[in-house]
Amino acid sequence: MDKKIKRIGVLTSGGDAPGMNAAVRAVVRTAIANGIECVGIRRGWQGLINSDFVMLTRESVGHILSRGGTILYTARSEEFMTEKGRLKAVATCKMLGLDGVVAIGGDGTFRGALELSRLGVPVVGVPATIDNDVGCTNYTIGFDTACNTAIDCIDKLRDTMQSHERCSVVEVMGRNAGFLALYVGIAVGATTVLVPERPIDFQKDVVERIQDSRLAGNTHFMIVVAEGVGSAVEIGKRIHDAVGMDPRVTVLGHIQRGGAPNARDRETATRMGYYAVNAFVEGRGNSIIATQEGGIVEIPIEEALQRKKHLQMDRYRIMEIMQYGTKHNLFGV
Ligand code: F6P
Repeated sequence: MDKKIKRIGVLTSGGDAPGMNAAVRAVVRTAIANGIECVGIRRGWQGLINSDFVMLTRESVGHILSRGGTILYTARSEEFMTEKGRLKAVATCKMLGLDGVVAIGGDGTFRGALELSRLGVPVVGVPATIDNDVGCTNYTIGFDTACNTAIDCIDKLRDTMQSHERCSVVEVMGRNAGFLALYVGIAVGATTVLVPERPIDFQKDVVERIQDSRLAGNTHFMIVVAEGVGSAVEIGKRIHDAVGMDPRVTVLGHIQRGGAPNARDRETATRMGYYAVNAFVEGRGNSIIATQEGGIVEIPIEEALQRKKHLQMDRYRIMEIMQYGTKHNLFGV
C-alpha cells in the first residue's frame, strides 16, 4: 500500500485467550508511536457491522498487559459470514476512515479477515487461541498459559487420586486438535493421552496402559482426553466397564481460557502486536503474523489459511518411555 497509514482498527475475535490484552496494548502503542490513530472495535467482526467502537489511547491500554480476557470483548459473528454483513463492516471501516484492521484471533477470525481484505480493507492477523491449532504458526497466544492452568489443575487432581488410589479422566479443551492435550499430558506424566488426530484402540490405548501402569506399581491413573475425542464421561464409563474401576471425571472447560497471561504469552503477544502494526507502517497488509523457529514472520492470508500443522506424534514415544520404557509403541513412531 503506498498511501500513508493514518488510522487503524483493532479487534479480538473467537474464543478469548490470555494474552489478547497484551496484543491489543502492543498494537495501540506501536500505532501511536508511528503517528497512527487506533480505533478499538468491540465484540469482534460483529462490532464492525454494528459500528461498535471506541477510540484507544496509550492510557486506554494501561494496566491490561497482565489481565486475562479482552477489554474489547469478543464474539463469533454469524452475520459476518454473509456478504451483506461484510459490506456493512466495510461501510463502518469507510465511516471510521480505517486504513487497515488488526484482527486478533484464530482460524475462523482469519477466514473473515481474508473476506474483508477481498473487499478492499487491508487486514493483518495476530494468532491468539488456547488451542494452538492455527496451521501457519508454531505458536498462538494463550496456549502456554492455558497449558499451565490445566497442568496446575491436574497436579491437584493427582493428589486426591493418589490418596484414594483412583483413576482420573480429565477432559481438556483444544476444539478439534490435540496440541493442548498432548503437551499437558506429557507435562503431568499422564497414564495415557487421547487426541482426535488418532483413532482410539480402547483396549490398547487405555485398558492395557492402565494394566501396565498397575504392573509397574502405580495405584492411581491419570487419563487426559482432548475434547475433540468426545466425552470424558463416556471414556470413564468404558473404563469402569473394562477394568472395574470407578473413575472420577473432570471437565476443565473454560477455566483454561482465564487467568493472567504468563511470561511467554505476554512477550509473544507484545512482539506480534508490534509486528502487525509494523507491517502496515511499511506499506504491507493482508498477512498473518506467525512464529517460526522462535522468530516472527508475515505470511499472506490466503497462503496462511492453506497451511496445516500436524501433531508431533514422536512426543508420544517420549511419553511412553517415561511411563513404560519400550514395551508399548502407541503410534509406531
Ligand atoms: O477455540 C478456543 C476454545 O476454547 C476451544 O478450545 C473450545 O472448544 C471453544 O473455544 C469453546 O467455545 P465457547 O467459548 O464458545 O464455548
